[in-house]
Amino acid sequence: MHHFNERDGVLYAEDVPLSAIAEAVGTPCYVYSAATFARHVRVFTEALESAGVPHLVCYAMKANSNQAVLSLVGALGAGVDVVSGGELKRALAAGIPANRVVFSGVGKTDRELADALDAGIYCFNVESESELAALSAIAAEKGLTAPVSLRVNPDVTPNTHAKISTGQKETKFGIPVSRAREIYAQAAALPGIMVSGVDMHIGSQITSLSPFDHAFTVMGDLLDALRADGHAITHVDLGGGLGVPYEDARADPPRPEDYAALVARHSNRFGCTVVVEPGRVIAANAGVLLTRVVHRKEAEEKTFIVVDAAMNDLIRPTLYDAHHEIRAVVPRGGTELVDVVGPVCETGDYLAQGRTMPRTERGDLLAIMSAGAYGAVQSSTYNTRTLAAEVMVSGDRFDVVRRPMPPEDQIALDHVPDWIGEAARR
Ligand code: LLP
Repeated sequence: MHHFNERDGVLYAEDVPLSAIAEAVGTPCYVYSAATFARHVRVFTEALESAGVPHLVCYAMKANSNQAVLSLVGALGAGVDVVSGGELKRALAAGIPANRVVFSGVGKTDRELADALDAGIYCFNVESESELAALSAIAAEKGLTAPVSLRVNPDVTPNTHAKISTGQKETKFGIPVSRAREIYAQAAALPGIMVSGVDMHIGSQITSLSPFDHAFTVMGDLLDALRADGHAITHVDLGGGLGVPYEDARADPPRPEDYAALVARHSNRFGCTVVVEPGRVIAANAGVLLTRVVHRKEAEEKTFIVVDAAMNDLIRPTLYDAHHEIRAVVPRGGTELVDVVGPVCETGDYLAQGRTMPRTERGDLLAIMSAGAYGAVQSSTYNTRTLAAEVMVSGDRFDVVRRPMPPEDQIALDHVPDWIGEAARR
């Protein structure tokens, strides 16, 4: 469910025509619907609440870490899953209480561990013995205690794109289930460490419940074993990963309510707080990338619609073969078979290939749908293109929530050493 709908022949974000945003802000730009974000957080929270699951929803902010998004999500009572010191800074700056923050990732540096300890986060999701030892040393030196879950790799196949599968043993993530009891015993004996939970995350854009069901069962078995070993486990973190419908016409992934019902079924056995880390399902359908047609190009084999957004703005089609629905902001009627491409000098710079979509002319506006997750956060200034603005809509209001970064700002970041002329002569 989202709030991007056509009214009187124009595509709106909530109560604002997208054409008005393009006019005011320029294109390309990301447009978010606050009501959609809020709805997704509520659906998740309420589903777990009504299923009677003691829970903490930690939005995986890597999906969209704009400060306005974090402030909104935080105001709804959610916490966050962070994967870097930078994300922790963003979360705290947005007013998210540290005791609602979990910290995931295989490469936390000593600096990041120390900062998170000082902040007093809810839990460190530790991914290796090396990280465990480093955290113990830093905590002990500070006279602090680090609450720890070990991320366990349940070795299940999530049936998603290879680049976003994490729960199989050949990936870099987590510790093998087979060694979990041994490493938990190590953890419990280390100074500065308090074992408090178990953690998993098997991948992203998962479109069926069965890999979750399988992995939650593995976690339940592990919990029983760890409790029998004498560990006081007070929460289980089930990660994120629930997929979203990118293609309107295709089969729907499970709804958050169904996912929550599955969690509820397992949570009776867990008998403790359940942490979930949804990212995409909160953010994806809450955003679109608004772009304008720069040229139509009839080539020998194909028609190319050249737009002013490119792979630097939205890399998902190129990187994950992702499908994003493309809608005309003011449909002219009729469809045609086209490739939608950007201006970047790479053949991989496309937003859609071989797509039957609304017929467009030079100057028309298009909305690339479901771009709220892993869109702006993965954008770059490649080709010295302006980093796109982000806009948030709420009802009939809208505001720029990230200003664009034009070439002038990018040039100002660079520094030319005064010996550069000499280097040229050497
Ligand atoms: N928790 C952890 C530890 C994660 O690594 C991730 C995502 C999540 C939660 C949230 O997963 P979600 O609910 O969003 O599926 N850039 C890729 C997606 C990368 C996902 C990485 N990890 C894309 O655009 O598809």
